[in-house]
Amino acid sequence: DLPSYELLKTSFPKNGVGLITLNRPKALNALSSPLFLELNDALKRLDADKSIGAIVLTGSERAFAAGADIKEMKDITFSEAYGGDFIEMWSNMAFQIKKPVISAVNGYALGGGCELAMMADIMYCSKGATFGQPEIKLGVIPGAGGSQRLTKAIGKSKAMELILTGDNFSGTQAEQWGLAAKVFETPEECVNGALTLAEKIASYSRIAVKAGKEVVNKSQELGVREGVEFERRVFHGLFGSKDQKIGMTAFAEKKKPEWSHE
Ligand code: HXC
Repeated sequence: DLPSYELLKTSFPKNGVGLITLNRPKALNALSSPLFLELNDALKRLDADKSIGAIVLTGSERAFAAGADIKEMKDITFSEAYGGDFIEMWSNMAFQIKKPVISAVNGYALGGGCELAMMADIMYCSKGATFGQPEIKLGVIPGAGGSQRLTKAIGKSKAMELILTGDNFSGTQAEQWGLAAKVFETPEECVNGALTLAEKIASYSRIAVKAGKEVVNKSQELGVREGVEFERRVFHGLFGSKDQKIGMTAFAEKKKPEWSHE
């Protein structure tokens, strides 16, 4: 069970799935520090919860998140930003959370909102979603991974164009370019699609899922040779898990595996 939050809604809509809904409607889910403290708390608790196998993060139909909170950030000085490691805590989802996180993006996903959506392990969106990195229009640049994750996902030329113009792009384009894994007609279908995906992932061995996430993420950091070597070490390691024996024995005996998650 999770505590109740002021700026998030949480629920458990399917087996093994935790749903976090950003809930700051008056500011189109602008990502303030209080919101991030709650988000990190919820993610950490779900990550530690043995009954949870995957997490879905969404916003409203109107806005996934319209960015970092511009009003909170506008008067920050360099020394406050640098000295206080401004937005350092935004990295928790990408670097601390070990269970798969799926973002279900509807409405605006701008600036930090787009960056948050890209920090998820898998992104789903609806075709009417509005993505963009508009920081250039505010006299800054993306600060929560946008220049890195957008470029890795869609290539340098297109990412450079988007970041230097601040132009928006649609959910349809996000899927065509490979930023989103799937695009849906409506926001409702998008959230349902993400929950169905999460339930499927949660039905597998947590140990294997954790390893799968770890090795795919390593591909973003390592060259192919080191990456393949890393994959092999982790693959070998899984022969020490109970679930490898359970999964392969079940196949040989034509049974359904009952995972121990160990
Ligand atoms: C603070 C925000 C906000 C934001 C919207 N609001 N986005 N407040 N920070 N990022 C507030 C508005 O001020 C307004 O409050 C209310 O939400 C509704 O927004 P409107 O602008 O009235 O709605 P609409 O006319 O429909 O326009 C929607 C919009 C626009 C196109 C999304 O709100 C917009 O351009 N927002 C800013 C988008 C942006 O630049 N994001 C990047 C931020 S920089 P009131 O009180 O007036 O009702 C960033 C840097 C990341 O993210 C770097 C790492 C941190």
